[in-house]
Amino acid sequence: MTNKQNFFVTTPIYYGNGLPHVGHFYSSTIANVIYKFHKISGDNARFTTWIDENSQKAVIKAEEEGMEIMDYLDSMAEWHKKVWDHFNFDYTDFIRTTETRHKNLVQKVLQKCFDKGDIYEGEYEWMYCVGCESFKKDDDLVYLNIEQNKTFPIKQGVKETPNIIKVCPDHLKAPDQIKEKNYFFKLTNYQTWTEEFYKANPEFVVPQFRFNEVIAFVERWLEDFSISRETNTFWIPLPFDNSQVTYVWFDALFNYYTSCISSRWGDKNNEEFIDERWIWEDDNSTKLHVVWKDIIRFHAIFWPAMLASYFDLWEKDSDWVLHYRKSDNKYLPNQILTWGYFTVDGQKMSKTIWNVIDPVPYSDEYSHELLTLYMLSGFPIGNDWDYDRKDAVLTYNAKLANNFGNLLNRVVVLTTKLDWSYLTSPSGKWIAATKDYLDDFNKKLSVYDLKWGLDETFMFLDVLNKYADTTEPWKLIKEDTERANAVLYILAEWLREVWLNLYCYFPEKMWEMFNRLGLEGYVEQLEQWKLEELRGRSEIFNITQKDWVLFERFEVEK
Ligand code: MSP
Repeated sequence: MTNKQNFFVTTPIYYGNGLPHVGHFYSSTIANVIYKFHKISGDNARFTTWIDENSQKAVIKAEEEGMEIMDYLDSMAEWHKKVWDHFNFDYTDFIRTTETRHKNLVQKVLQKCFDKGDIYEGEYEWMYCVGCESFKKDDDLVYLNIEQNKTFPIKQGVKETPNIIKVCPDHLKAPDQIKEKNYFFKLTNYQTWTEEFYKANPEFVVPQFRFNEVIAFVERWLEDFSISRETNTFWIPLPFDNSQVTYVWFDALFNYYTSCISSRWGDKNNEEFIDERWIWEDDNSTKLHVVWKDIIRFHAIFWPAMLASYFDLWEKDSDWVLHYRKSDNKYLPNQILTWGYFTVDGQKMSKTIWNVIDPVPYSDEYSHELLTLYMLSGFPIGNDWDYDRKDAVLTYNAKLANNFGNLLNRVVVLTTKLDWSYLTSPSGKWIAATKDYLDDFNKKLSVYDLKWGLDETFMFLDVLNKYADTTEPWKLIKEDTERANAVLYILAEWLREVWLNLYCYFPEKMWEMFNRLGLEGYVEQLEQWKLEELRGRSEIFNITQKDWVLFERFEVEK
């Protein structure tokens, strides 16, 4: 990457009513890899991950646990942080929506949108699913036959009975019937604006098939949505009506902006909040949200319109229709990277049958790298996917323990026998092969193709393994030392380039390896955005210890 830019990646803010599972781990991993890639490449990068606390789910859970809500949320926030710190995720800000900095912003936004008439009062009777924290229409529900414990689509001619009820398909619970005073956001004002925004930004949602779903939904016509509740909870009160609190999505989505206008710096004892709104409001900034398909509509439809309202990102025509202006793009997110549902061993993750993979004990049993490798190389970001535990071990054994590990081992063991004074530079052919790999790797990671980055790396490692098989440096070392040195030099140098790339994916292991190979200081240099300086330079490895295993093999459970 040559053009340095501001780069901001976010995970969704996770509900603080449960602990993270592999689904959450997946989004944090994607964000972490992308963040690291931009950071080491020299970009001015930020990465935030947060907790969504102002939700009905948290209130219910705290009651069940017999705890005061804030005590409950504090303990959950602590847990979440512990999990992400366990994996050394490199987030630059960790934010809770109960923080003052966030509350201040949300109230400011609400007041502004209210003053300009984009928020209005109404009374509605709607269905609300607490599990999803969203309002539901008949289209969103299914029938549940309680006796048979079976669901089926809502069909004409079938009537609700005590035994057949309408439920949310994900939570299998009847939604709450709500009739109350609500404030609504005039999303309908932004119908034309949204359509024009999508046309001008054809890659706003990736992959494309998910964007097509969003576009089709918008074209069916938007509806205003509720932004408040009449409950007496601790959520953020509406500044213009204290009897109401902010509904979770209006509050939650604005967190992405909170972390820019009031960005956390320093450590726990020395914390300060800095105004970094330029990260959001700059033509040279890329803002990327990673989310799963369940929350695309909130991110791809509500969020741009809310920003358009707050920042006045429109032009009104004589019919009062609001139009999009390309010059306003700097206030809007650049891209939303989405994926589908995870199941585990073919089953939907469910806390009831307890097939949820808890990433901490799982990675303790196997390894952090196994989880990362399998989730990022098993399927392209975007699809629904099944986490097959057996396949995870097989993939890890094949790619990291064998392909990578064996080559590393060969090179390390043989290199300790080398006389480095014989070293000769690699030939032009090899330089060209590596250049292609490195260029492609950079290109693909720039468009967040993390699977490709891994696939291409393992293909390159295959080529290196073949090169070792045909040149047989273990024989050469006895017969032709000069040639053995040249071969090993090539292998070691190109492996070094691979490691530099894999640092974004497996930072702890690459750190361990750099240190063991006498490349101390590499991680520090990478973390100070100096990847380019480490490329293409001829290193002399100082290998003092040869019998260590970077990626141990695991048994496949029967
Ligand atoms: N709090 C909202 C997000 C607000 S963002 C302004 C929320 N939280 S969540 O905890 O329910 O889920 C957040 C994220 O967890 C999802 O976006 C996704 O990254 C991940 N996943 C949770 N369950 C998952 C699966 N079963 N499959 C794939 N990803 C999953 O939604």
